[in-house]
Amino acid sequence: MKVAPSILAADFACLAEDITRVRAEADLLHVDCMDGHYVKNLTIGPPVVKSLRNCTDLLLDCHLMVDQPEVLFPAFAHAGADSVTVHIELGDPRACFDAVRRLGMRVGLALEPDTPFAALEQYLGDIDMLLVMSVHTGFGGQAFIPEVLEKVRAARAAIDARQLPVEIEIDGGIKADTAHLAVDAGVDILVSGTGIFDADDPLDAARELRALQRS
Ligand code: DX5
Ligand code: ZN
Repeated sequence: MKVAPSILAADFACLAEDITRVRAEADLLHVDCMDGHYVKNLTIGPPVVKSLRNCTDLLLDCHLMVDQPEVLFPAFAHAGADSVTVHIELGDPRACFDAVRRLGMRVGLALEPDTPFAALEQYLGDIDMLLVMSVHTGFGGQAFIPEVLEKVRAARAAIDARQLPVEIEIDGGIKADTAHLAVDAGVDILVSGTGIFDADDPLDAARELRALQRS
């Protein structure tokens, strides 16, 4: 499995240290950007991505929980983001895809737990990554919602049937006791915030997730 530690659960006053601690068992770094409008929480944006770019070679996977993501794409690109993910709940995402690609970044499309897979199936051929939320966006440390696994299975089947180069990422409540369910349902990338950074040994927690295999 690919593992993407979510820095939302890291210590923002010593991000570089926290990232270094998990580097050996991480494939991407998940960066949760919240604007206080799309979700009732406020986090970080391009200036922090720029600092992260200077302190890690990990792919910076920016999850945009913001109302007008297109306004921020150039700033994320210049800051060094590798991919940006936008939410389907904002409406037709096609203009976003073009803008993101023109800036040289990979594009992800996310869906909230209550949004059906059918809402974005038509865009599967246009994206690099599908982000299935397994909690409602806004906060780390929430309980995994197992009902979303059905969507993961549907996405896996659709992607495989069409042989699309789309990775499925799952985000929310992923830790040792839930991750294996997501892996068996067909995800490629496990995002984990508190599951990694709140563990006694974050590197071990990431290693455990990364070692999971589809049964
Ligand atoms: C929630 C964020 C998640 C969050 C996951 O809105 O998108 O990435 O950091 O945190 P955990 O793994 O603690 O559920
Ligand atoms: Zn996220």
